[in-house]
Amino acid sequence: MIKVGVLGATGAVGQRFVQLLAEHPWFELTTLTASDRSAGKVYRDVVNWRLEVPFPEKAGGIRISPTTKESLKDVDLVFSALPAEVAADVETMCAANGVAVCSNASSHRMEADIPLVVPEVNPDHLGLIDVQKDKGRDGFIVTNPNCSTIVLTLSLAPLRSYPFTDLRVATMQAISGAGFQGVAAMAIYDNVIPYIGSEEEKMETESLKILGKFDGSGIVNAPFRVSASCHRVPVIDGHTMAVWLDIKEPVDKVVRAFRDYKPPIHGLPSQPAKSVEYLDQPDRPQPRLDRGKGNGMTVSVGRVREGLRYVTMGHNTIRGAAGASVLNAELIYTRKYL
Ligand SMILES: NC(=O)c1ccc[n+]([C@@H]2O[C@H](COP(=O)([O-])OP(=O)(O)OC[C@H]3O[C@@H](n4cnc5c(N)ncnc54)[C@H](OP(=O)(O)O)[C@@H]3O)[C@@H](O)[C@H]2O)c1
Repeated sequence: MIKVGVLGATGAVGQRFVQLLAEHPWFELTTLTASDRSAGKVYRDVVNWRLEVPFPEKAGGIRISPTTKESLKDVDLVFSALPAEVAADVETMCAANGVAVCSNASSHRMEADIPLVVPEVNPDHLGLIDVQKDKGRDGFIVTNPNCSTIVLTLSLAPLRSYPFTDLRVATMQAISGAGFQGVAAMAIYDNVIPYIGSEEEKMETESLKILGKFDGSGIVNAPFRVSASCHRVPVIDGHTMAVWLDIKEPVDKVVRAFRDYKPPIHGLPSQPAKSVEYLDQPDRPQPRLDRGKGNGMTVSVGRVREGLRYVTMGHNTIRGAAGASVLNAELIYTRKYL
């Protein structure tokens, strides 16, 4: 078993990691870290468990460590759910000390030698791990995109063979995407907030890297334009987005591509039976009805119309965050990087 730790284990994404790793068949969860506020306390005593699933008792007795080099010396791999400003140095420190890092944080995503991976979309970008190793790093960092970009790029995976130049997206994003302290109830209840700091920029840049080509030493960005408008809505989990693409293929051919999609990865424990599921009903996908598909790892698509227009939705803290990192780690493991 690979010994793993979760950095930021008490937060919204950190709790998802603990949920997904407590009984993982390949990874043994041995270490949990958080801020000095929580360090030294037993996980079950300090965490304010807010997920809809039962508390994972197996992890409950782990004592929270401070997020330091010493506390991580016995793990092979860490999953980072730290705030970006904390993650920047901590993840670099881990990689320098021989630890593999699978990160949710944005700090390193756009660096030239750091892979930004959605396993179904760009598994070959893991070749950047070799580029990091060639530079003398003992460990390495692999990142996953922000929650909305994961849902968007995975929904595009079945359409990769159809060329387009202009991609527009309007998101309706759940409040869990802002973390536990992120949005005040008085601000979001009965409301829509048409601004999420840096989210539009992240969607517009991260998508081009993910859908770009790995040339053996770096990534050549995808050659299209992305224009995003991001909005926070009073949904707990599940980011919904309306997508417009200048694809010329007829609607029935696009629907068939969604229906028949087979991802290029196989046999990973967190991989859902369907990475992308096409829903026929005219009023789907909906977060409340569809975010649990594939244990939160399936991205749903529907409402395909001429234009080309469609709607997609995925669970933001599972497929869009912790589940994405765990799937990356499983792929890394099968590629013998651990
Ligand atoms: N929420 C999402 O849907 C989502 C999706 C994709 C990516 N992300 C990214 O994932 C990361 C975590 O997001 P979140 O929503 O889970 O945030 P969160 O709920 O605010 O949790 C933050 C975690 O980091 C710990 N922490 C804070 N300051 C620290 C420090 N100085 N040293 C060590 N640990 C510290 C906190 O520990 P204490 O409890 O002890 O304070 C807590 O465990 C962020 O980078 C975010 O941008 C989030």
